[in-house]
Amino acid sequence: MTMQNMAAISIAPRDRVFVLTGAGISAESGLPTFRASDGLWAGHSIEDVCTPEAWQRNPALVWEFYSARRAAGAEAQPNPGHIALAELESSITDRFFLCTQNVDDLHQRAGSVRLAHMHGELSKARCSRECGSPPVEDRKVYRSLDEVGRCACGGRLRPHIVFFGEIPLEMDRIQEEIAKATVMLVVGTSGSVYPAANFVHWARQRGARTVYVGPEAPLNAAAFTHVVEGKAGEVLPGLFRA
Ligand SMILES: NC(=O)c1ccc[n+]([C@@H]2O[C@H](COP(=O)([O-])OP(=O)(O)OC[C@H]3O[C@@H](n4cnc5c(N)ncnc54)[C@H](O)[C@@H]3O)[C@@H](O)[C@H]2O)c1
Ligand SMILES: [Zn+2]
Repeated sequence: MTMQNMAAISIAPRDRVFVLTGAGISAESGLPTFRASDGLWAGHSIEDVCTPEAWQRNPALVWEFYSARRAAGAEAQPNPGHIALAELESSITDRFFLCTQNVDDLHQRAGSVRLAHMHGELSKARCSRECGSPPVEDRKVYRSLDEVGRCACGGRLRPHIVFFGEIPLEMDRIQEEIAKATVMLVVGTSGSVYPAANFVHWARQRGARTVYVGPEAPLNAAAFTHVVEGKAGEVLPGLFRA
C-alpha cells in the first residue's frame, strides 16, 4: 500500500475499469454515511430498520425509515464525484462498469449507465413473499402502512433493498465484470460490509491495479496498490487520464 497523492491514473486502450462505490460518494450530496455516526444510519440502528427480523417485527417502522430516505434522496443532487464517474464512462464506454452499495439514485442521475445496485434501490419495491414478481417502480413517501400496496399474490410490498443477512443482487454479473477488470477503483466505503469488501481481493488476485479514494483508509486498505486520501468530490474529477 502506498499513501500518496497521485497526479492521475492513466487508462490505456486495453484497460477495463471496475468501480465500487459506498455511502461516502453520496456524503457530499448531503446523504449521511453510517460509520460517521457510530454505526447508525440516519439515527437508526441497523437492527431496527435494515434486517429481515426488523421487517417481520415492524414493517411500519421499516417503511417509515425508507420513506424518509426516499424524501432525502429526492432533495439531494449528484456531486462532482458522481459526475466524474459518469464522464469516465462516457469516454471509455463499455470498458467501464460501476457497482454501487448505495440505494440512492445519484449515479443514474449523474448519467451512469453500466451500473449495478448490489444492495437494491430506494426507488423500487417488491413482493415480500418473494413470489417471483419483478420489482416495481415506487418512489412514494408513505405516511402509514395502510398506504403501502400489495402484490397480485396478496403479499405486502417491501422496499427493494438488500437487508443485512440477505444475498446481494446481480452477483454473477458483478463477478464477471471484476474478472475482466485491469483497474479497480473503490470510493467511499469502509471495507466492512461483505461480500463487497472482498472485491478488491478478487481483482488483486488477477493482477489489477487497485485504487481507494476516501478521507480515511478503509479496513481492507492493505489490498490496495494506491490509497488516495481525500473527498470523492475533490479527488475524482481529474483522477483519470483516459
Ligand atoms: N447513500 C446511500 O445509499 C447510503 C447511505 C448510508 C448507508 N448506505 C448503506 O450502508 C452500507 C454502508 O456501507 P458503506 O461502506 O458504503 O458505508 P459506511 O458508512 O460504512 O462507510 C462510509 C465510508 O465513506 C467514507 N467517506 C466519508 N465521506 C466521504 C467523502 N466525501 N468522499 C469519499 N469517501 C467518504 C468514510 O471514510 C467511510 O469509509 C451500504 O451497504 C449502503 O447500502 C447507503
Ligand atoms: Zn407476490
